[in-house]
Amino acid sequence: MKSTIISIAFLSLLLFTCQNQNQSEKQTPAKEKSDTVYNAALIAKGKSIAQASFKSMSGKLMKAMKEGGVSNALKYCNLEAMPITDSLSKAYNVTIKRTALKLRNPSNKANTEEFNLLHQFKSDIEMGKKVKPIIMKSGPHSNTFFAPITLKAPCMVCHGDISDDTKSLIAEHYPKDKAIGFKVGDLRGMWSIKFEDKK
Ligand code: HEC
Repeated sequence: MKSTIISIAFLSLLLFTCQNQNQSEKQTPAKEKSDTVYNAALIAKGKSIAQASFKSMSGKLMKAMKEGGVSNALKYCNLEAMPITDSLSKAYNVTIKRTALKLRNPSNKANTEEFNLLHQFKSDIEMGKKVKPIIMKSGPHSNTFFAPITLKAPCMVCHGDISDDTKSLIAEHYPKDKAIGFKVGDLRGMWSIKFEDKK
């Protein structure tokens, strides 16, 4: 029963994600900084990679949750989140990173540019503004796609007001976890996907 509820929750999460993506495609770019290159093709490429990565991660997470509840899913994320992003990076020939201000895994730490953007996304969301992906030039031959990651209801078991049991399970793998206490709609983090120009 519990696993059915969880799988329904995850399925609706996938639907929500698709809806959000469709909505953001209709938006037009806001004024960008002078070093920002707005490029519709790169935005589309970044979105499709972020969406594929999200689908791969949440599909596997849902399976782990179904098979062994939150504790199994947590173990799964701990072992597999990085290898999944690494193998997708290789498959797409890009560098995929998930980062955040309040981190669970310290290896996902933001660099200065990501840190500033995360603050920008966070304050925009808090002011009720719509946030959307952007492309920035990250070197003479590379661009980086950044997209906010907001929280949906099914994320709450591991990132919201979590139970004491979940808290201690998380502490086993992430003793310095800061990624709890969020509410639905809050900014959880950001995709940062770097593309090198084709030679
Ligand atoms: C079963 C528990 C669980 C659920 C449900 C869950 N997460 Fe996480 N999340 C984790 C774990 C564990 C990590 C650390 C993964 C690692 O080691 O890289 C993590 C890491 C992250 C990160 C990377 C940044 C960081 O702090 O290390 C983001 C972003 C994130 N989660 C967003 C989400 C979103 C959005 C959802 C809902 C769609 C979600 N998570 C659902 C357990 C969960």
